[in-house]
Amino acid sequence: MSFTVAIDGPAAAGKGTISRAVAQHFGFAHLDTGLLYRAVGRRMLHGEDPVGAAGRLRAADLEGDDLRGPDVARAASKVAVIPEVRAALVDFQRAFATRAGGAVLDGRDVGTVICPDARVKLFVTASAEVRAERRLAELVGRGLDTDFETVLADVRERDARDSERVEAPLVAASDAVVLDTSDLSIEAAVARAIATVEEAR
Ligand code: CDP
Ligand code: CDP
Repeated sequence: MSFTVAIDGPAAAGKGTISRAVAQHFGFAHLDTGLLYRAVGRRMLHGEDPVGAAGRLRAADLEGDDLRGPDVARAASKVAVIPEVRAALVDFQRAFATRAGGAVLDGRDVGTVICPDARVKLFVTASAEVRAERRLAELVGRGLDTDFETVLADVRERDARDSERVEAPLVAASDAVVLDTSDLSIEAAVARAIATVEEAR
């Protein structure tokens, strides 16, 4: 039987970390749906048409360190406004979500568009400043030369584009549990998420 956990929220809110921990705890599979948009964004940066690229994604497209960088993130949010790009990625995400044994998917529209019937929906958020601090620490840890103001501007630009687009905008599903991690440690956030899934089982 399938059991889908949908985890949405803005950039660097903690979705990925929480999703991986929930998946590991319950033995569910995990899909970071942002990687699909990042892969299409990277192909666009290499000169490809994003709609065609979205229809041709392969497992190898989801590899590579640069996929996690800010240039690819910005490109991802640009291709993500294109309805045909989103449409090309729906079937893969739904098939993943309904696989036997349970699945956790994190992104922007998992609880609203991809899996409106998900058993558990979490909307993970935090202030833009807190999220920029976290993303800065990650990027500096990976050796990127950047600073707080640059990362904050990137986060705000992406939040605006993701929230204002017409197709599948970033918004909490009406039945999502909102988890504001601004003042929560990652351990506390993970514990809350696991407790929410446990209640639904
Ligand atoms: O997937 P998403 O972009 O939403 O965020 P993430 O990659 O899971 O988290 C971004 C960074 O913030 C990671 O380094 C997390 O460990 C950190 N984080 C944190 O310090 N405290 C939290 N409550 C949540 C995330
Ligand atoms: O890790 P972070 O939260 O910074 O970004 P991500 O989850 O990898 O997503 C990168 C971009 O892809 C987002 O800014 C969105 O524009 C887009 N995206 C989307 O539109 N729908 C999703 N389900 C996931 C990502």
